[in-house]
Amino acid sequence: MTTHDEKLTYDGGSTVAVLGPGGIGGLLAGLLARAGHRVICLAGDETAAALRTRGIRVRSAVFGDFTAQVEAETELRTRVDACLVAVKHTALDAALDRVPPAALGDALLVPFLNGVEHPATLRARYREDVVAPAVIRVESTRVAPGEIVHGSPFAEVDLAGDTVPRERLEALAAVLGAAGPTTRVLPDETAALWAKMSFLAPFALLTTRYGLPLGDVRTRHREELTALVEETAAVSRACGGPADPVQALARYDAFPAGTKSSMQRDAEAGHRLELDAIGGALLRAADQHGVPVPVTTRLVAELEAARH
Ligand SMILES: NC(=O)c1ccc[n+]([C@@H]2O[C@H](COP(=O)([O-])OP(=O)(O)OC[C@H]3O[C@@H](n4cnc5c(N)ncnc54)[C@H](OP(=O)(O)O)[C@@H]3O)[C@@H](O)[C@H]2O)c1
Repeated sequence: MTTHDEKLTYDGGSTVAVLGPGGIGGLLAGLLARAGHRVICLAGDETAAALRTRGIRVRSAVFGDFTAQVEAETELRTRVDACLVAVKHTALDAALDRVPPAALGDALLVPFLNGVEHPATLRARYREDVVAPAVIRVESTRVAPGEIVHGSPFAEVDLAGDTVPRERLEALAAVLGAAGPTTRVLPDETAALWAKMSFLAPFALLTTRYGLPLGDVRTRHREELTALVEETAAVSRACGGPADPVQALARYDAFPAGTKSSMQRDAEAGHRLELDAIGGALLRAADQHGVPVPVTTRLVAELEAARH
């Protein structure tokens, strides 16, 4: 019998499920399918039907414009090597019903969601030693079912998973890296997730609160940006993550002035926000560690009030 460790050499013939073939999931599904892997997208009836008929069309200045054929199901029924999870937080619980633990077996479960709390949710539902959280730095948008526009001049994945054997992470990183995104394995899951959170939370909360792109936020709301960066860094440090507020501010200053956060784009489109997964999680972690976060608290409350 073939074991997963043998299969995870991924000699061009791995089988990967993608739960939520949207901006992130669709890009990864398209790239993996183009690289010769068997890709099974898990989606609702309509999206699954569209993917079966038309495949996934990717437009990308980095990876080219291409269409890749994928399979599509409404529930995982096939034995896979890995299942990538790329739904939004707001859809996570419902979407996981499409991945019964018995069907997942010992396949890796790799969430690409922003935030820091979902790995615990997944480990409560699936085997601890298969949950391998990833962080992705990219801008990619699902403009229609199966139609993906990759807009950023980069796509970078950090794979972690404190409970997962390192060689399994390395094997998956090799597959992802060969298919497209620059991929590395990081030794510390908490550090990986909080590094992303530390950058994302101040940027997402402020651009969404004021409906302004990053360039205006960093000039017109500099004081709040600085306070949020410092608060987030303090929470990250308390949780065992990195904390470098000076570097975080310098990174914002280096971004193009017109940059928008995905939370801001969701607000503009009238979609549900990942506010609880980002702002809410930050407040819960601050509370747990006794870190004062007055500016974050006010902004999250204002954003919540604006949604009702
Ligand atoms: N997009 C980015 O550039 C980016 C960058 C970094 C991190 N992230 C993070 O990555 C995660 C995914 O974001 P995204 O932008 O890729 O979201 P997205 O474009 O909205 O895609 C989400 C996908 O999930 C699907 N979905 C929703 N409910 C489902 C369910 N019950 N069962 C199966 N599929 C379901 C949607 O299906 P339909 O197509 O049928 O609507 C959609 O294809 C988020 O946590 C986000 O913060 C995104």
